[in-house]
Amino acid sequence: MNPQDTFADVQQSFQRCLTRKEFLKRFYDIFMASHPDVPKLFAKTDFDTQIRLLRHGLSASIAFAGGTRVGAHVLERIGDTHGRGKMNIDPKLYPYWMDSLVRTVEETDPRYTPALGARWREALGIAISYIRGSR
Ligand code: HEM
Repeated sequence: MNPQDTFADVQQSFQRCLTRKEFLKRFYDIFMASHPDVPKLFAKTDFDTQIRLLRHGLSASIAFAGGTRVGAHVLERIGDTHGRGKMNIDPKLYPYWMDSLVRTVEETDPRYTPALGARWREALGIAISYIRGSR
C-alpha cells in the first residue's frame, strides 16, 4: 500500500452513496440475506439508530484506511463491542459484511467500476483488520 494513499476515491464514492437515502438501509437488507446467521443478530435492532452509527463507523473506517488516525478510537470501540465478551461476532461473518457493502455500493454509486469496488475492499480490509486486532 502506498503510504500517501488517502483513499480520496473511496471517500468520494461514499459521499455519492450517502446522497441516496436508501443506501444504508439497502446494505442491511443485502447483509441480512447474505448468511443465515445474520438476521437473528439484528432481531431487536432499532435500524434508525443503527444506520446512523454505521454511517459514523464507515466514515471512521475510510478515514483510518487513509491514514487519519482520528478514526482509530472509533474502530477500537467497534472492536470492543463486536469482540469476545460482548457481541462476540463470529469472524467468519466479516467477509459477508464486506461483500454486502461492496454490492450495495455497486448498486448505489452511479460511477461504480470494478476497480472502485476493489478500492473499497482495500479500505475496508484495513479497517476490519484493525477492528479484529483490537479485540
Ligand atoms: C468493519 C465492519 C463493521 C463495522 C464498521 C460495524 C459497525 C457497527 C457499529 C458502529 C455498530 C453500533 C454499535 C457500536 O458502536 O458498536 C454496530 C453494531 C452491530 N453490529 Fe457491526 N460493524 C461491522 C461488522 C459487523 C459484522 C460482521 C457483524 C455480524 C453480524 C456485525 C453485527 C452487529 C450487531 C449485531 C450490532 C448490534 C446491533 C444492535 O444494537 O442491535 N457488525 N456495528
